[in-house]
Amino acid sequence: MSELKKYPPSAAWMANAHVKGPAAYQALVAEAEADHEAYWGRLARELLSWKKPFTKVLNDSEAPFFKWFEDGLLNVSYNCLDRNIEAGLGDKTAIIFEADDGSVNKVSYSQLLAKVAQLANALKKRGVKKGDRVVIYMPMSVEGVAAMQACARIGATHSVVFGGFSAQSLRDRVQDAGAVMVITADEQQRGGKSLPLKAIVDEALEGGNCPTLKDVIVYKRTGGNIAWVAGRDLWLHELTASESNVCEPEWVEAEHPLFLLYTSGSTGKPKGVQHSTGGYLLHAALTTKWTFDLKPDDVFWCTADIGWVTGHTYISYGPLALGGTEVVFEGIPTFPDAGRFWQMIQKHKVSIFYTAPTAIRSLIKAAESNEVVHPKNYDLTSLRLLGSVGEPINPAAWEWYYQHIGGGNCPIVDTFWQTETGGHMITPLPGVTTLVPGSCTLPFPGITAAIVDETGNDVPNGQGGILVVKKPWPSMIRTIYGDPERFKKSYYPSELKGYYLAGDGAIRDAETGYFTITGRIDDVLNVSGHRMGTMEIESALVSCTDLVAEAAVVGRPDDTTGEAICAFVVLKRPRPSGDEAKAIAKQLRDWVAKEIGPIAKPKDIRFGDNLPKTRSGKIMRRLLRSVAKGEAVTQDTSTLENPAILEQLGQAY
Ligand code: PRX
Repeated sequence: MSELKKYPPSAAWMANAHVKGPAAYQALVAEAEADHEAYWGRLARELLSWKKPFTKVLNDSEAPFFKWFEDGLLNVSYNCLDRNIEAGLGDKTAIIFEADDGSVNKVSYSQLLAKVAQLANALKKRGVKKGDRVVIYMPMSVEGVAAMQACARIGATHSVVFGGFSAQSLRDRVQDAGAVMVITADEQQRGGKSLPLKAIVDEALEGGNCPTLKDVIVYKRTGGNIAWVAGRDLWLHELTASESNVCEPEWVEAEHPLFLLYTSGSTGKPKGVQHSTGGYLLHAALTTKWTFDLKPDDVFWCTADIGWVTGHTYISYGPLALGGTEVVFEGIPTFPDAGRFWQMIQKHKVSIFYTAPTAIRSLIKAAESNEVVHPKNYDLTSLRLLGSVGEPINPAAWEWYYQHIGGGNCPIVDTFWQTETGGHMITPLPGVTTLVPGSCTLPFPGITAAIVDETGNDVPNGQGGILVVKKPWPSMIRTIYGDPERFKKSYYPSELKGYYLAGDGAIRDAETGYFTITGRIDDVLNVSGHRMGTMEIESALVSCTDLVAEAAVVGRPDDTTGEAICAFVVLKRPRPSGDEAKAIAKQLRDWVAKEIGPIAKPKDIRFGDNLPKTRSGKIMRRLLRSVAKGEAVTQDTSTLENPAILEQLGQAY
């Protein structure tokens, strides 16, 4: 790390940021170390408005099922909307919505509250009650954010499903959550094309296999043709038209589940990560304040989709809880051309920009091959802070982001966190941290991140190990919905002394103590910042029972997407080659897209007569990873029944 360039904070940043300089950071860390509960209690009182104040900060009597602020009552939507209006921000723009076609719609805090209240009233009238689960399968839209806020307002627990997931994935989530309602749109608009949403909901619900589900609410986004199930389907605009724009918030306990969000683990089906109300909102607000230094005049833009946790915390909740103005974007970074992001920053005078390394890497490529979309053609001087999330950012992409987007004077916050953590865990703070490209630097104050060995003992700096969090924190995952045992096993394995297991490997720099994330230590892949389990993709492949006998999936490094999915497949018919292999590979990719979603399509498909296995019959995954990378195989292959398959598997389709 010492050979990499370092970027200390400027004097202006140190003087003006919410956290002013290293000494202020150290003071916060020391405050948390001295009394973890008092620290979080102070912040929860300062950042959130409570209907009934809590008297107890942390209840660890049933660890690892921790409870924070448990006797306090609050409402997330009140904290994000009403209290800002009460503070005089009613006419302030909450959301600048830009659609795929470039049209813009600005919504003030008062207008957003009216929308949320009308929908909340409508949901109540349809019988949705506190604690009911509502699945949201929506395009990026004001209505999508409003749907989440409306659930929060009445104490319903939302579960947003990314609009790129297939009918099968949607059905699994509706069933697992026991949802009573799906809120969707007729279609979504991406890159100039209309893509179905309602049709996928219809397919997911076909055959009455989601018995808990009563209503499907449809937002008319494009006006495209859709099928209609009488008695089940309702138009959002008809439902809300006659509703009052006043809706008393449901005051819920701090531990009340605000949302479930399904994410991939190393085994089996995706798990429903359950988050709380009070602790989650505290960290959403606090990290938006300290990491992004959000101020009243900022225009904040997080490019994530509300279907991922980043969109939850840094679109639907954090910026609104602070009364900020944010951009919500429906389209894709390459439409109408790869200058879209830069053009939007210029147009909306975005001051804080938060995106994923994959997007940056693909826009670098685009800018290098086409002058017209190079960021130098746009006025990006409104920017003052940049952020990165979802995967490691390689130093070359960091430097480009810093120079070409930030003009050499915007700090980059490389934020490490996870669906399970609710908000930033390890991240620079602008105005505090000397930046080193490729490192997420130091823990957020109050987050006790550490690196340990397999038995939970600290490893010295400079030596890699397992990333853990030693003490509970307010926005942590509460459980896996419906499977508390899996929660304990996945995140609090007994050998780790009661520490939270993140599932990533990491190393701290010997000199600075800075963290660098070295990647997942389980069978989870990170493709374009999207998280996927190898087992999930394998199950999807083998469910193609006409064709596939056996499949193994591994990741391999990819210059643009970080990791790429590589599938090794044994067919129920003779191993194909040439055009036939290409055609079957396409068929299998389409199959996976239908089973999970297009994001899970393998980039490489390799066919073998069988898969390399150990004597005990275990697939030799390490060997497959070498093959996928195109590396020389150094593993012992003497146990292979059929050494010829190594050559077969060398060919990717
Ligand atoms: O491997 C880490 C990687 O993304 C995983 C979490 O994925 P997900 O739950 O989908 O949440 C993504 C958005 C918060 C982590 O276990 N990851 C996330 N941020 C970073 C990262 N890896 C390196 N650097 C990061 N900044």
